[in-house]
Order: sequence, then C-alpha cells, then structure tokens
Amino acid sequence: MKKERKILKDKSILLGVTGGVAAYKSVDLIRRLREEGSSVTVIMTDAAKYFATSLSLEVASQNKVYSDLFSYPMAHINLPADADIMVIAPATANIIGKLANGIADNLLSTCFLSFRGKTVIAPSMNWRMYENPIFQENLRHLLSHGVVQVGPEKGSLACGEEGTGRMADIPDIIESIKASLSKKDLLNEKILITAGPTREYLDPVRFISNRSSGRMGYAIARAALRRGARVTLISGNSSLERPTGANFISVDTSADMLNAVNNEMDSSTVLIMSAAVSDFMPVKKSTNKIEKSGNLFLRLKLTPDIISGVGKKRTRPFIIGFAAESGERIKRAKKKLKEKNMDMIIFNNVTETGSGFDTDTNRVVIIDRKKETKLPLMSKNSVADAILDRLTEIRA
Ligand SMILES: Cc1cc2nc3c(=O)[nH]c(=O)nc-3n(C[C@H](O)[C@H](O)[C@H](O)COP(=O)(O)O)c2cc1C
Repeated sequence: MKKERKILKDKSILLGVTGGVAAYKSVDLIRRLREEGSSVTVIMTDAAKYFATSLSLEVASQNKVYSDLFSYPMAHINLPADADIMVIAPATANIIGKLANGIADNLLSTCFLSFRGKTVIAPSMNWRMYENPIFQENLRHLLSHGVVQVGPEKGSLACGEEGTGRMADIPDIIESIKASLSKKDLLNEKILITAGPTREYLDPVRFISNRSSGRMGYAIARAALRRGARVTLISGNSSLERPTGANFISVDTSADMLNAVNNEMDSSTVLIMSAAVSDFMPVKKSTNKIEKSGNLFLRLKLTPDIISGVGKKRTRPFIIGFAAESGERIKRAKKKLKEKNMDMIIFNNVTETGSGFDTDTNRVVIIDRKKETKLPLMSKNSVADAILDRLTEIRA
C-alpha cells in the first residue's frame, strides 16, 4: 500500500538567520517547517539579533538557538553533521560574500564549510546591493558550487524602494528545500501538463465550464519540477499559485488548449492531460451579449478530443490521461486507455467524498498497459508522486 509522501517529515534542518530586515520572517518559516514534520536548529549571526530575538526563534523551533562560535567548541562540526540540509534565510550580501570565498569567521560560516549536504539560500537586501556586480560575482561563484538559490522577488522593499531584493515567500523557500531533498529521477524528461477547466463561450460574457480547480495538475507540475523534469503547464482559469520554475501557458477555451498542446507536444517526452476539458461547446457563439427575452435553448456540439488527436500521431510523447467518472466505472477507463492509444490512465470517482474536483485529496487507480494500482485516499501531492513513480518504472 502506497503511503502519503512527506518529504520534510523527520528531516533535521540547520537554519541560518542573518542580519537583514527579513529576519523576522524566519519565525514563520520555522513554524511551517515544523508543521511539515521537520526539526529545526537555528544559528543566528550577531547582526541578526538586531532584527529578531533569540527567544522568538527558540520558542518557534522548540530548540536551543546557537550563535557564538567559541561558546560551544564542537558545534561547528556537530550541528552540520546532524543536519539533512542547511538553509540560510534571510541571507545577507555579507554572508553570501563570505561563503563564496571560504571565509569562516563565525559559527554560521564555519558550519557551512564543514557541511557535506545541500544548502539553500534566500538572499534578501536592497536592490542596489543585489545588483552590485561584486555581489553578483560572489553569488554566481557560490551557486557554481551547488548551493541552491531561492528568490529574491521583485516588489516594494523595506527601505520604501521598489526593486528586486525581497526575500522569497515562505512557500517558495519550503518548495526549494523539498526540491533539494528530492531524488532527481526525471532529469531527462520534458513534461507537458494540462490542468484546470476550459470555458466555452455562449456570448462575450457567459460560458459553460466545470468545477475543476487545477489542483491535481499543479501538484503533478510541482512534483515533476522537484524531481528534476523540465515542465510546461498549460492551465485553464485557476486561482492557484503558479508553480515556480514551470513554463506557464494560460488558456481559456478548449480550442486554446488544443492549440497550446499541439505547439508544445513535439518537444515533450511526456504529456499528462489532467485538465477538465469541456466535452461540449455551444454550436454558435454570439458576438453580442444575448438579451434576456424569455427561455433560451442551447444547442451544444462536441469539442475536439485532444488526447485522441495526440494518440494517433506516429511519433508521440508518453501519454497519461485522466478519467473522471461518476461511480466505479473502471472498465470504461480501461476501454478509454486502449481506444485513445494512451500509455496510462488515472481513474477517479468524482462523486466520492474527498475525491475529484476542488478537493485537496484524491482516491485514484493508476491503470497502465501492464498493471492496475489502487491507491488509498491521499493528498493530491502524494498522488502526483505515485503517478510519477509509475512513469519512471515504466520508462526505466
Ligand atoms: C537597518 C538595516 C537593515 C539591513 N538590512 C539588510 C538586508 O536586508 N540585507 C543585507 O544583506 N544587509 C542588510 N543590512 C546590512 C547587514 O546587517 C550587515 O551587512 C551585517 O554585517 C550583516 O551581518 P551577517 O551577514 O553576519 O548577518 C542592514 C543593515 C541595517 C543597519
């Protein structure tokens, strides 16, 4: 039986907090990491103490906060040895300069030198400091040694100016930590994913759509990015955050989605069609808003079937489709797999509680040409990883 995938569960995170205005955000970062099951040990620089208190970081982490190199003689060796990953958030221009040049003059920089795992840095500073060519040279040098950078973002800065320098949002930092701790088994794949609903217009303001939120496709996109794939996400209308690192194509109608899939398909190795593409569209779209003058009878026609079109091509990517069915109609899903020449189909019963549209969970059966894998009710994130696991098994 497959289990929920919790990348941060039981991970030991060594968090460096340095002297930038974003240091107060570290409390929230620690809280979120602990919610995901990690234990966090904090090292504060002396300058960080001007921006956040040791007490608040101790309370948030439920752990001792370290700062002085000479008060705990073995901490610079033992703390890194016990850590699965190092994170420095916020990372000042100063610490980035030191790390890039092998300087070890405080507990944090010395721990970095003795650490053997991955380090994620979240730079945060005024835009002038960020754009400074000496800083940029230091940053490039540090990244060339395998350090992972997340952010900074463009926006209004604490100094009242606008520019690039704001620390990455906490969910992006967490995503980057998860990616750094994930196996990279999809490095050779370029995955095209469709997600969300389509809109089929009756007139300029009215349309037929469905309850799809895009959650399943977005979860697959994030999981694939973590595992090293290049990802293009074609999405219908959705209120979800765009996955950082994906090539994002926004579409409206099923015709837009068909066009986008056709444009991207030839350069993709895998196509995952998790979008809820409307099956029907109005026979005619009125150019003006239809006036309210009594009952209206709609005539609908079928939209083009995107998967069947792709399945018929001589050279085509590995195709994964979704069968959102009401009731236990696995037989129908299996028939679809063959008829549309797909390689895998994900069956889900959308009428079951906690499964299908607009929920964070899903209960699916992964059906491919060789086997049928029934999964329990799981978060869509874990379902996404289970689908990608089967994909890598088949393509091994
Ligand atoms: C009010 C104030 C805000 C600062 N904010 C930042 C900042 O956001 N990012 C940064 O790189 N440096 C910032 N600095 C400068 C650092 O605090 C300074 O370079 C310090 O030496 C960093 O030490 P550390 O890297 O050991 O924490 C700020 C300084 C002051 C006085």
